[in-house]
Amino acid sequence: MKEILIYLSLITIAISGLSIIAGIIFILFGKKQWHHRAMISACIFAIIFVVLYVIRTMIIPTKPYEGPMKGLFSFILWSHTILAIINFPLAVVTVRYAFKENFEKHKKVAPITALVWIYVAITGWLIYIFNLIA
Ligand code: HEM
Repeated sequence: MKEILIYLSLITIAISGLSIIAGIIFILFGKKQWHHRAMISACIFAIIFVVLYVIRTMIIPTKPYEGPMKGLFSFILWSHTILAIINFPLAVVTVRYAFKENFEKHKKVAPITALVWIYVAITGWLIYIFNLIA
């Protein structure tokens, strides 16, 4: 059960991050409809990730990192957590501007949202890898 939840979390966070990268590539090539689909996919998988995360932390107690790179691990964990929280309002604002067709403002905030999102996805995987090799 624990492993399944962890693997599902890793898969959903990866799909979410990759969808953001795909969405950026699509918009760079002017594929607006595909950009829209990729970003909605990123949002859906991020929501699934959060649900899985909540279930996981409710049923499995988290154990502290015991490996040799405690300082680096703490930096990654804290930056990941803080930016994951910030990412939520950023995503809401970015998608709202897009749906309201306020693309001037969408274009201003979207690159920040995309960067934060990708950082959170990559560091989510790093935290797992750190614990794995600890
Ligand atoms: C979290 C979700 C989203 C992110 C991170 C995101 C990210 C981006 C980025 C980085 C750009 C390029 C900005 C630039 O040219 O400087 C962009 C442009 C654009 N986005 Fe999004 N986007 C998201 C959601 C959406 C959604 C849901 C839609 C459609 C309803 C959408 C429609 C567009 C359009 C039409 C443009 C081009 C605007 C123009 O060139 O005038 N985006 N987005």
